[in-house]
Amino acid sequence: MDTPFSTLIRTASHEQHTEAETSTFMSDLLGGTLGVDAYTRYTEQLWFVYRALEDGMEQLAADPVAGPFIQAELARVPELERDLAHLRGADWRERVTALPATEAYAARIAECAREWPAGYVAHHYTRYLGDLSGGQIIRDKAEKTWGFARKGDGVRFYVFEGVQNPAAFKRRYRELLDAIAVDELEQQRVVAECKRAFSLNTAVFAALGEEFSRAA
Ligand code: HEM
Repeated sequence: MDTPFSTLIRTASHEQHTEAETSTFMSDLLGGTLGVDAYTRYTEQLWFVYRALEDGMEQLAADPVAGPFIQAELARVPELERDLAHLRGADWRERVTALPATEAYAARIAECAREWPAGYVAHHYTRYLGDLSGGQIIRDKAEKTWGFARKGDGVRFYVFEGVQNPAAFKRRYRELLDAIAVDELEQQRVVAECKRAFSLNTAVFAALGEEFSRAA
């Protein structure tokens, strides 16, 4: 196969990327129609998702397929916890809840982390490369819309202190994808899992969209 894997996975998820990006919830959130409570609820959902991604990290670091992708500077759970303490107050843990769509998403990540490291890579790519890209647009909008300090509490999730040059980091990440230690058939399965990851994200957006249209 001539197409580099990084190109394959990006091309295959392109349509779903547009779908996620233009979902009602995302459009409303970034269009300034929704309040900070919607942004906070979304941040809570991310906490469940990233716990699933990062709980398995230590154990996956030694895996020949997923290991190269595990990089400490990507870890987001501590940042999400600081954001939630700011958004909800020190006792945020007592009230945080996952939507059923979030539970399903986190459960699938945890299952891959346990049983299928190559599948875990699909989830890793879908979230972290997205956060390093579109995440920066979301941060900018959030700062302006709800008055967070630039790169401060509330938007720390989007700030990768350990990544000095995001463009270079993404280039290196794509090289890791191109060198992934799996055969062609398994690459296709990873691409399919990436599409599933996008669908799981879209389902969370749909659930959030419903929650906040009902509240409006
Ligand atoms: C309003 C929301 C979003 C915006 C504005 C946005 C914007 C962008 C932009 C501009 C890029 C291109 C970066 C580049 O070429 O280097 C990108 C890449 C990416 N985004 Fe998003 N995005 C959004 C939502 C999402 C969501 C919800 C996901 C998945 C959960 C996601 C996953 C990705 C991935 C995986 C890439 C990397 C593609 C690649 O180069 O392989 N994005 N995004």
